[in-house]
Amino acid sequence: MEARLGSGEPNAGKYLWGNVPALDILQLGSNEGEDYKGLLRLLFAASGDLRNVAKTIAQIPSSYSGSLEVTMNDKDLDVVARNAIMLLVALLVDNIDEAVDCILHVWYSALIRKSDLDILQQRIRPLIESVCGKIKGKTPSSLLGKTWEFGQRSLRLVLEKSSWDRLLSFIDIPNDLTLERARQIRTAVTAAESRKDYRDRHLLNQSPSRRIAKKRYWEDGLLLPFGSRRNDFQEPNPTFFQTANTWPMHDSADPLNGWSPKDVADCSTGAATADIYGKLFYHVRAVLRAFLVRLSGLQVTFRLFQMDASSLPEHLESGSFSRIEVSNISDGGYLGIHRTLALIVPLLQGLLSNPHTTLITLFMNAVEEYTTTADRIADIMPHSETMKRLFKYLPPDIRVASDESDTWPIKFNSTRDIVADHQPIFDRFVKELKLAEAAQSIGAAMKETHTVIEKWPFGLKLQPGQPGAQEEFDRLLSGGVTGKERYVEWKRIAMRRQG
Ligand SMILES: C[S@@+](CC[C@H](N)C(=O)[O-])C[C@H]1O[C@@H](n2cnc3c(N)ncnc32)[C@H](O)[C@@H]1O
Repeated sequence: MEARLGSGEPNAGKYLWGNVPALDILQLGSNEGEDYKGLLRLLFAASGDLRNVAKTIAQIPSSYSGSLEVTMNDKDLDVVARNAIMLLVALLVDNIDEAVDCILHVWYSALIRKSDLDILQQRIRPLIESVCGKIKGKTPSSLLGKTWEFGQRSLRLVLEKSSWDRLLSFIDIPNDLTLERARQIRTAVTAAESRKDYRDRHLLNQSPSRRIAKKRYWEDGLLLPFGSRRNDFQEPNPTFFQTANTWPMHDSADPLNGWSPKDVADCSTGAATADIYGKLFYHVRAVLRAFLVRLSGLQVTFRLFQMDASSLPEHLESGSFSRIEVSNISDGGYLGIHRTLALIVPLLQGLLSNPHTTLITLFMNAVEEYTTTADRIADIMPHSETMKRLFKYLPPDIRVASDESDTWPIKFNSTRDIVADHQPIFDRFVKELKLAEAAQSIGAAMKETHTVIEKWPFGLKLQPGQPGAQEEFDRLLSGGVTGKERYVEWKRIAMRRQG
């Protein structure tokens, strides 16, 4: 979408922060039930950051006393290294407040406090150094696993030897990287002159107070309440700065995009009601706190892998996972849905052992890819349903207001997606790819009724004119999702006998 940042920017960015809101992939209470006592095995096959794991565990009802196995995989070492480091902080640091703040800053701030760096260097580094010392003689491509035990909790990390060797670089600041240089490297991406137009288009959809907050975050990269003391943040975050000359993310990467805009907006920041990053700071802090509190009472095993999801079946137990979440590697630009289903469905537990077992796929690009020129033209006809709805939120008379007159078409462009009904185009995608048949041939089916996440969680829920409808629209417009994101849940079914 043109008004959002993200295309043509100068660096090839990594996804170190999620770009869709976190979800609880279990929803235990409404599925297996609060009284469930069995083993739960969760797989995040292209995990991205820690948010879905943190939110899922934070929301496990306190009545659950069974054991939990969490398997996370991502093909990007930066993602896996950061997740491993943050989980180790969660498991190692006894003081919950200290652990929460350290994780929060390492996750989202370009500069961290000396005390955060001390935790990484004094508590985490010895664990990694010890493994690196023991595997010196191995070949670079050999796959090696190490399990650390912390009472009834454990973390197993499985990496190639060459990746174990690189792991320490996520804890050490590059030798020649000064604070000033770190700022320059980051702002060369987040405040690039060549991207001014993209930033302006993005700011156009923000409220005035949010524009100030965004600009501040682009400049200093510290996720803190607006009025907070910043002097303590003097150390370049080594999980971002792998070398003394690169910032690893797109300029569109924004911590806000990984969390529900409504949950963030509803988070209280006292008198500073418009401090959006302050709200996010308190929201993530609350989720992390709940995550760590819940973790302390659970029997839990984390396993972290770094490989292409297509290799997972060689390393994981088939028929064993209660929930599998694959992010949007089901989109055509990644593995695609046919390969995803063929590779991942066999890992899912059978319906007989658990009727709630679910594979969750996300399509972020399918609607865009299957929209034809004819669809676009039909949509912008003055009497189309989309236009009728849009004018209720963005009245056309705004065009005559002098200073808005130039920007109205840009706003109009970015709002069309929010109000349009994308289901017919998604149906076309499902039909053309023969998804029902493809799934059936490998013993799976789309779930008619979703039990984990709504089909279109980010579309408008209210009708124009209802109380809160304009606020809902404005929130969507200023946020990171487009409304075209479609989740599909899959279940296992009995395979039909041939012949
Ligand atoms: C699909 S990307 C897109 C961002 C995603 N929507 C999010 O919010 O995190 C998510 C993650 O998938 C990982 N990924 C992409 N293709 C993969 C694959 N074939 N196997 C494993 N991980 C993959 C990326 O490294 C990234 O961290």
